[in-house]
Amino acid sequence: MSNGATGLKTPRIIFGSMARGAQDDAARVEVLQCAITNGLTTIDTAPLYDFGQAERQIALATKSLPHHAVQIFTKVGLRWDAGDHGDILFEFTDKDGSRRAVRRNSRPESICWEVEQSLERLQLETLDLVQIHQPDEHTPVKETMSALLDLRSAGKIRHIGVSNFSPAQIKTAQQALGEVPLASTQNEYSLVRRQIEAELLPLCRARNIGVLAYSPLAAGALTGSSKAQITQPMQEVIDNRLQPLAAEHGVSPAAIALAWVCQQPGVTAAIAGASTTAQVLQQANALDLTLAEQTLNRLTTEFARSPLEYPEFPPKGIYRKTRRLVGIALRKLRLRK
Ligand SMILES: NC(=O)c1ccc[n+]([C@@H]2O[C@H](COP(=O)([O-])OP(=O)(O)OC[C@H]3O[C@@H](n4cnc5c(N)ncnc54)[C@H](OP(=O)(O)O)[C@@H]3O)[C@@H](O)[C@H]2O)c1
Repeated sequence: MSNGATGLKTPRIIFGSMARGAQDDAARVEVLQCAITNGLTTIDTAPLYDFGQAERQIALATKSLPHHAVQIFTKVGLRWDAGDHGDILFEFTDKDGSRRAVRRNSRPESICWEVEQSLERLQLETLDLVQIHQPDEHTPVKETMSALLDLRSAGKIRHIGVSNFSPAQIKTAQQALGEVPLASTQNEYSLVRRQIEAELLPLCRARNIGVLAYSPLAAGALTGSSKAQITQPMQEVIDNRLQPLAAEHGVSPAAIALAWVCQQPGVTAAIAGASTTAQVLQQANALDLTLAEQTLNRLTTEFARSPLEYPEFPPKGIYRKTRRLVGIALRKLRLRK
């Protein structure tokens, strides 16, 4: 699939390097190499994934491959290591038991620093695509985009994208880039999570912006491997439609769900995660699987009746609670002065 405005090309399935369970480097490298060998030659990653380790594992998995055999898409704009700057996206407990916060930070100096760090971890001189991971309401988009344009001029990045941006934020980002096209936006999309259909997909189609659909298997809910809350109606569609269709086509339910995403108008590619080589091989079957119009429509209609109900990520409660605590702390500080 290609994005006309930029010339950026990618297979319709992108390998997502965010590991969902604990895996050592050797196991992750094996899964990554299996993906590349089987045609999933674009890899999506981020500094946030395992706090830098996912990018290091990609470097390990690709070090003996020829230049340009693999395309790396990474992201910047979420910091867990930069003090108190930026709104908290979510909190977590570190390996040593201390509470840490991941914050939105798309300030120009932070973006430039992150790109250098990713280049080093990935052992690359240029990143194929750099995406702003999450919008940062406290940094003008123009400043962030200007930093990315400078990095592009310096040859450190080839293309510029965004992730989790709303349609309005996408328009602002595109405007801030001026002559340089916004290559892509990365947003959640699957048979059971269809919010982007209303506005974002039509906008990106009209403006020739690539759409990279993340969590296309609903984080494993569609394949029965996740702890997500599957409702009874959804389970029935999986059992009575998805699984028989998979058997009919001689592929896995995962491949059918991926093909559905990839065939939706405006979608450039699906970014799928996998924890085993067997899962990767099943996903690779979706690279050239084309579902008939009637099959697509049936899946669309039947899954529309059973949207996925699972907790938002990051949990909204945590975000609100943290904001409240930060507000109280700031007020106390002001009173002390
Ligand atoms: N931009 C963002 O904010 C953002 C957010 C989320 C994800 N992403 C990107 O999208 C990628 C994928 O997202 P995701 O992991 O949330 O969702 P996903 O691709 O919808 O689900 C991946 C999970 O589905 C299961 N699975 C995959 N293939 C399977 C198969 N053939 N048979 C059975 N089960 C299978 C595995 O679960 P088990 O591991 O449990 O077996 C796997 O971990 C990430 O790696 C990341 O690159 C981006």
